[in-house]
This record gives sequence, structure tokens and C-alpha cells, in this order.
Amino acid sequence: MNVKDIKKVAVLGGGGMIGSCWALNFLWKGYPAHIFDINEEALQNARNRIAAGFDFLVKRNILTADKAHVAMGLAKYTTDLAEAVADVQFIQEASPERYEVKQALLAEVDRHAPAEAIFASSTSGLLITEIAKGSAHPERCLGAHPYNPPHLIPLVEIGKGEKTSEAAVETAVAFYKALGKEPVVLRKEALGFIANRLSVALYREAVDLVVRGVCSVEDVDKCVTFGPGLRYGLMGPNMIYHLAGGPFGLKGVMHHIGPTVEWWWEDMADWKKWPENWLEAAHEGVLQEMANRPPEQGRTSEEIARWRDDGLLALLRFHGKL
Ligand SMILES: NC(=O)c1ccc[n+]([C@@H]2O[C@H](COP(=O)([O-])OP(=O)(O)OC[C@H]3O[C@@H](n4cnc5c(N)ncnc54)[C@H](O)[C@@H]3O)[C@@H](O)[C@H]2O)c1
Repeated sequence: MNVKDIKKVAVLGGGGMIGSCWALNFLWKGYPAHIFDINEEALQNARNRIAAGFDFLVKRNILTADKAHVAMGLAKYTTDLAEAVADVQFIQEASPERYEVKQALLAEVDRHAPAEAIFASSTSGLLITEIAKGSAHPERCLGAHPYNPPHLIPLVEIGKGEKTSEAAVETAVAFYKALGKEPVVLRKEALGFIANRLSVALYREAVDLVVRGVCSVEDVDKCVTFGPGLRYGLMGPNMIYHLAGGPFGLKGVMHHIGPTVEWWWEDMADWKKWPENWLEAAHEGVLQEMANRPPEQGRTSEEIARWRDDGLLALLRFHGKL
């Protein structure tokens, strides 16, 4: 199947955080979308989140109100999985992060969807081989991991299972590019894909610094936000080190600080289980951080998410992505 053959998509788990943003993204780019979830309450969540997302895009002059209205009219909401996938060419799965849920969904998709329809799982890092293991069509199954919020963040990590076909990967890559995304295909299967492995490597150290008493939760976030985070919005760690080396580039900076970094690594967190009591401490710390924020940047999760989305729009513009 070619990307031009993709005329209609389905989003499974469309009422969730990720599914609703995927649906918004597909509708925004002109694809009719069947939005499936397990009950009416979840579908109402989808309607509310999608409407709020379009409202934001209109208020920020990304879309006219007329275009948003037309796009929202391309959505069909259903709790009937057979109806959701019967005549679609691309299926974005965004159900809970459990093998048994995703495997059961794929089994139902096998029964009701066209055999060539691509099944793209939003999994944050489960193995695609395992998700597809009972499937009659494992060749159509791949990972398509977005970053939250998927309609604004361009990265989609494409993961292959043992039986994923190259044709499915190529079509998925072309499809996400057509949506304006930045797909990255993993060369081999890896739990957690690339970006989440990097993300939790940083987070392990962040938790450890707090547990060790070096700093507060708020200080960790301040260090990332006003330090490396500003650069991470523009470039990755390799390029950052390369620029730090001036005329000598990455080799120069590693020659300079490389040996002492090995001392730090010796001292840094390498635990494999979350430390006891960290969750309560992290939760309290982040609530404190929220209370200390400048009020004009929002203090509730909803307000802060909207402020974040404005920042993302500015960065996307800077990257030429809007
Ligand atoms: N939250 C994130 O930041 C994030 C980022 C990237 C990827 N993901 C991945 O996206 C997927 C969804 O995560 P989320 O955060 O949106 O979760 P969520 O809990 O917000 O949404 C899950 C949705 O799936 C629905 N659901 C429950 N059982 C289902 C079933 N049997 N079939 C279909 N739908 C079902 C729920 O009703 C809910 O609407 C997960 O695989 C997660 O790892 C999450």
C-alpha cells in the first residue's frame, strides 16, 4: 500500500491523552478519522479534548475557525471497533500500555480491518514483536511512538518487530512526513525506543539527586529548564558538545572534560528499581514548584499545559515547522 492510498484513519483509545491528540492531528491535516474508545464517557473526553485543541489552534491563528469546523466534521466517534476499522487504511493505536490490551485489540483489528491496513502502536516502549506475536498479520504492525502532545511535537519513533514488513515501515514514514512529522526509524528493536530511554536516563539521575539530598525537585526542573533544556529545544547532545569544543569540536571537548566525566559516572545513579518513597517526595515537590511559578505562566496543570503549548508553537516556528 502506498501513502496515497491512505484516505481514512482510525484511532483506538481516542479518548485518551495521546489518542485524542493524534485524532486532532489527523483531522487538522484533512484525514477523516474514526475515533474509537470503550465507552461513551471516553468518547466525550475525545470530543472535549479535540474541540479544545482546535480552539487553541484557531486562537493562535494556525487555523481559521471555518477550517477547524470542517476538520472537526471529519470525525466519527464510535464504541464499535468493527465499525471503526472496517474501511480504514491506517490505524493508530493509543490504548493503555499493557501487552494484553494491545494484543487483544490487534486480534480484533485482524478480524475486522482490511489485511493491508497498517497498525501503528503508540506504545511508549513495549516490544512490537510481543504486541504482534498472536496476530494473523504481524507484517502490518509497527511502533509509532509520539511525544506528548503528539499534534505539536514532530517526533515519531518508528519501531519494527521481527515480522514487520519494510513496505509497512516505508508507508508509515511517508504518511507521518505528509503530516509534517519527523519520523525516526529504529535500526533494531529496543525497549523504550530512543527518546524515552534518553528521557528516563535523565530522570533516574534527577530522582537520585533529590533522594541523595543534593537538591529539591524544583531545583532539578530549574536546572533543566534554564540550562540544557533551552539548548535541547534547538539541538541534540552530540551537536551541543560539538559546539562546546569550538574549533576542536566534539573531540576537543571530550579530550578536555572526558576523563573527569568518568569520575562522575562512577558516582552517578545506576539503580534498576525506583527508590522507595520517591513518588510522594516527587509529587509534593512538583506541587510546590507549581505554587511558586509566576502566576501569569499558569499554576494548574491545564494552565501550564497551555503555556507549554504556546512555547512549543514558538519553537516550532523557529524550526520552520509551522
Ligand atoms: N501520556 C504520554 O505522555 C504518552 C506519550 C507517548 C506515548 N504514550 C502511549 O500512548 C498510549 C496511551 O497512553 P495515554 O497516556 O493516552 O493513556 P490514557 O489512559 O490517557 O488513554 C488510554 C485510552 O484508552 C482507552 N482504552 C482502555 N481500554 C481500551 C481498550 N481495550 N481498547 C481501546 N481503548 C481502550 C481508555 O478509555 C483511554 O481513553 C500508551 O501506550 C502510552 O504508553 C503515552
